[in-house]
Amino acid sequence: MEEQQTSPPQTLHGEVYYPSAETVTQANIPDPEAVRCEAEADLTGYWARRAGELEWYRKWDTVLDESNPPFYKWFVGGKTNIVANALDRHVRTWRRNKLALIWEGEKGDLKTYSYHALNREVCKFANVLKSMGTGKGDRVTIYMPRIPETVIAMLATAKLGAIHSVVYGGFSVEALHGRIEDSESKVIVTADGGYMNGKVVELKKIVDEALQRTAAPENVVVVKHTGREVNMEAGRDYWYHELMNLPLTRNSMKCETEVMDAEDPLFILYTSGTTGKPKAVLHTHGGYQVGIYATLKDVFDLKEEDRWWCTADPGWITGHSYIVYAPLIAGATSVMYEGAPTYPFPDRWWTIIEKYGVSVFYSTPTAIRGLMRFGASWPNRHDLSSLRILGSVGEPINPEAWRWFHKNIGKERCPIMDTWWQTETGMFMIAPTPAMPLKPGSGTKPYFGVQADVLDEHGNSVKPGEEGFLVLKRPWPAMLRTIYKDPDRYMKTYWSKYPGLYLAGDSARKDEDGYFWVIGRVDDVIKVSGYRLGTAELESALVSHPAIAEAAVIGLPHEIKGVAIHAYVITKAGVETGETLVEELKRHMAHEVGPIAKPEKIEFVSSLPKTRSGKIMRRVLKARALGMAEGDLSTLED
Ligand code: PRX
Repeated sequence: MEEQQTSPPQTLHGEVYYPSAETVTQANIPDPEAVRCEAEADLTGYWARRAGELEWYRKWDTVLDESNPPFYKWFVGGKTNIVANALDRHVRTWRRNKLALIWEGEKGDLKTYSYHALNREVCKFANVLKSMGTGKGDRVTIYMPRIPETVIAMLATAKLGAIHSVVYGGFSVEALHGRIEDSESKVIVTADGGYMNGKVVELKKIVDEALQRTAAPENVVVVKHTGREVNMEAGRDYWYHELMNLPLTRNSMKCETEVMDAEDPLFILYTSGTTGKPKAVLHTHGGYQVGIYATLKDVFDLKEEDRWWCTADPGWITGHSYIVYAPLIAGATSVMYEGAPTYPFPDRWWTIIEKYGVSVFYSTPTAIRGLMRFGASWPNRHDLSSLRILGSVGEPINPEAWRWFHKNIGKERCPIMDTWWQTETGMFMIAPTPAMPLKPGSGTKPYFGVQADVLDEHGNSVKPGEEGFLVLKRPWPAMLRTIYKDPDRYMKTYWSKYPGLYLAGDSARKDEDGYFWVIGRVDDVIKVSGYRLGTAELESALVSHPAIAEAAVIGLPHEIKGVAIHAYVITKAGVETGETLVEELKRHMAHEVGPIAKPEKIEFVSSLPKTRSGKIMRRVLKARALGMAEGDLSTLED
């Protein structure tokens, strides 16, 4: 049933979906343009107002310190801890009885946590970590399936003022090893395994293998989830449930939340960049909590009675910000599901929406495209009338998928919030609010107070409709503060192309209505099914195979995944090439990096296009593969 749309205040160009009158009147932000003006006129005033909606142990002295760019500081002098806002303040009110988390396992098991119960488990686990010597500033690696204990471990770490480094459970041995080593974690929290698509992912086994390659951390805590037998090394590995049931822990249901400076680190999260190894993006307690809370409340119009479901994994920034922290800060009820959307049938997600009455649903273009393939009869079998707002993130959503989502899931009633942001930005940067007119494929306008632009090579704004580099022109509270242990790389990567401006690494267009259209990465980052991988790490994993001498990797368009990995490899002398080696290399990539890193196609070649200084010209490979003009070849060596 299509709702009456509001009469447009101005006529926008192209395919436009105006909000219904009801959506506008009941929205948290009924007049987004007024708030936009407020924030533009007084950026720090706007953010101070939003920060004032949260609790602080001590109020800040300065909202934004710009004295040492690009090392911006927010809420300087403020004392806080994100857990004080995510849990402590709720358990003092009636919300202690509200459901914080509804979790469903892939096998159909169900666990629910009230705010009271979640807080109790977090306190207990924080005491466990403390008993292992974990304190302020120590790193804890969390390598887990999508289960409640992941959330508990993250919150417990933050509560102590320690720094979590969550590694996505879909990553494998080498990816995990690199991240443990770089973060110098003392403790690893993992599980015996997790379920995905009816199969068990043996996480503990991967941890054991990764630890053979690195100086072992002192302790490994293992959650029993699948019940499969795993290797437990005496003096290093401990069962989570045993630690949580020690008389000492069982009765230690209180744990003081550490008082942190607003600018103290909260977590590091590794993400792929243009060159070299994945880099650890660092986020802090103060500004991050304000940014993610305000954006979730405004963009998804979150209300007390909503049931929020973000289908991401806690191991990515989407999960950090919008599964774990922001929904809790907002006092919401979240749904979390362990497994695959198609297990056992392609209506698993629609079943979950109906079963738990999900009202706000946030997912990805790849998932939508994947489910679209199975046809509308799957969602049509379910009552999806609880839904009121939908969302998309991770990659550009093609208009066809947008329309399918809008029609078959949102029944033409639910606006779709297409949110553009990054691990580095921490929070939504270009995103609508429900009261704004939408265009399929566009994230509409920058969030309040965010100033984005599209520039040419020389730093001039391009004309409407033209493509250029996406930049952000003003600091925002949830911004990364640095690359952990590598401030130079922080400056070089983000702030050197256009001094004073943040370079996103994406290309984009702005249309005549000021709406932004993000096209994709312009660096050597590949977004496979929305997952961020770097050519450098993929290539280094390929050449770690004994048969391979050199490798180049590019991303090519793919109907479901958005972008898929294509690899070109040169084998060592005497190696027999063929299908067997292709399969072997795919297995090798899954083992070293993770199943998402399996190339779609592997081609054996005798040489790679390189510059005279030896850099692989991936642009040339890509143009050739797409049958496009190869562009300027003057720097080509051969
Ligand atoms: O290329 C953009 C794409 O994802 C990149 C950031 O990836 P990551 O740090 O893994 O964070 C993903 C989740 C926030 C961006 O540089 N991207 C993200 N959201 C969108 C998008 N591209 C187009 N539209 C989006 N809504």
